[in-house]
Amino acid sequence: MCGIVGYVGAKQVVPILFDGLKLLEYRGYDSAGIAVLDGEGISRCRRAGKVRDLEQDLRSLPPAATIGIGHTRWATHGKPTNENAHPQVDCHGKIAVVHNGIIENYMPLREQLMADGHVFSSETDTEVLAHLVESLLDGDLLEAVRKAVARAEGAFAVAILSSDTPDRIVVARRGSPLVIGQAEGETYVASDIPALLGRASSVQFLGDDELAELTADGFRVIDFHGNEVRRPSRSVSADPVSIQKGGYKHFMLKEIHEQARAVGETLREKIDASVQTVRLPSLDNAIPEFDHIYLVSCGTAFHASLAAEYLWEQILPVPIQAIIASEFRLRSPALSPRTLVVAVSQSGETIDTLMAVRRAKDGGACVIALVNNEQSAIDRESDAAVYMRAGIEIGVAASKTFTAQISALGVLGLYLAARRGTLSASDVEQEVGRLALLPGRITECLQQEESIIQIAERMHHAHDVLFLARGVMFPIALEGALKLKEISYIHAEGYPAGEMKHGPIALIDEGTPVVFLLSDGLAYDKVLANMEEVKARNGHVIAITDTPDAPAVLKLADDIIPVPASEGISRPILFALPLQLLAYHTAIWRGTDVDQPRNLAKTVTVE
Ligand code: M6R
Repeated sequence: MCGIVGYVGAKQVVPILFDGLKLLEYRGYDSAGIAVLDGEGISRCRRAGKVRDLEQDLRSLPPAATIGIGHTRWATHGKPTNENAHPQVDCHGKIAVVHNGIIENYMPLREQLMADGHVFSSETDTEVLAHLVESLLDGDLLEAVRKAVARAEGAFAVAILSSDTPDRIVVARRGSPLVIGQAEGETYVASDIPALLGRASSVQFLGDDELAELTADGFRVIDFHGNEVRRPSRSVSADPVSIQKGGYKHFMLKEIHEQARAVGETLREKIDASVQTVRLPSLDNAIPEFDHIYLVSCGTAFHASLAAEYLWEQILPVPIQAIIASEFRLRSPALSPRTLVVAVSQSGETIDTLMAVRRAKDGGACVIALVNNEQSAIDRESDAAVYMRAGIEIGVAASKTFTAQISALGVLGLYLAARRGTLSASDVEQEVGRLALLPGRITECLQQEESIIQIAERMHHAHDVLFLARGVMFPIALEGALKLKEISYIHAEGYPAGEMKHGPIALIDEGTPVVFLLSDGLAYDKVLANMEEVKARNGHVIAITDTPDAPAVLKLADDIIPVPASEGISRPILFALPLQLLAYHTAIWRGTDVDQPRNLAKTVTVE
């Protein structure tokens, strides 16, 4: 959601910023822009549309400039127009600002600044920062920005240039992520690591309520009170190849096919297949005795959390509840030092989940982060962490991080149950044995792609698609529906199959596709009965099943997608795979922009 890049060094800055913006496109945006600084002052170019639309205009920028900032904007205040695109500038074009997030009190600030004579040229909340810094600047840009952000309310990340201090960029963060990268004689800043891969050799995430002053020689961090902050940088471990499509048409398809590895890596450090046990040493001394558990998360991460709720309640004798993070604060969760809260987020930066973490901590709960990004805000603010090892996910629609989340949550459940003594060593052994086979099963399952392409072709004209399942498959049905609506824009709903007669059956008409997740031993006959009901109304039954040859399935299903038989944690993971491929290929038949679906952002940093 919005992307920031910045560079100061000795190289020509325009191509560096342009490449950085392209690498942040996955975050979601609807306009883009760049400002650079040279002896003539600040020059900028910006426009509504895609980063590639900006390329021609970039020729108007001074090619020799070596310091600048760039932005992809996801519109919040004001439409995605050229005027509202960032960078925004002050009255005299001497200060340029790019900004992610929302300045919630921008209205009173704007009115005050206008009363003081400042002239505004956009509808954005961002522009107030440019004018505020202008009004506070007295030779020291860092200090002026510190005073300006102290007056701003909301969640934001900013990068600011001033022609009065042409050798530096000042950045600040509250809530929205910023990562600073360094290489010999050059300093970078970006909203996320992909924009720095192959350029920076070390990185450091800026903390909340911190500012940094970047020059070619390095950077200095202070907090919003002006105190120096020191923390070590870490070397960049991800490979630049991981952010290339590697021969696939889309990142999403590549990431779907990376799942055997993503799940394998996630499990590798957490299970010991030789002695068939689980290990999460980071939690050994971090978890108190607990008497209930909440899982907080959004979107796909919520579906993984709901799957964990189903899996964990079979092995942990305490109340367990998955709650959508944005609702968590509005409700009255029972929080105490005996509450365990697991915050699930691939990015580790989702603002709603972060706010739920803060709410949980305020209530005295112990918070475990389950994230894909080490050092992310949710990781830093939690008491302990369990990491997914899915690798960078570029496609806006989550795929490999979903199955990695269920894998990691599955192991976390085993760990908690084993520690509490509610799961025997032999039960753990059995589950670990199954998990060790899971990467191979994933590869096997993804081989159904050719037949799924045909099914997707038949489905891509649909107006509504229902996804029905029971038990632990219900969250997977929700995820199947979310994937389809996100990338194909077809209306889709996931329901417990038992709920069909209580409402959704009204949607079923001649040919309405209804996707059933049918698994041996999971309310099997009842789900079959629901299939009969859909068939009786001339719906189009698509059965994703581990019993593809069963006579009832052959009789009722118009299309069948086989899934390898499994149990425990592996089962929901395997059923998720065909749903991802079905959504992907349906979107391809409809010709939508799979990797950057309309209106969506990869990391949602505004509430
Ligand atoms: O980074 P997070 O896991 O916290 O993100 C949560 C949701 O925003 C995310 O899963 C979203 O629903 C995706 N677009 C799903 O494909």
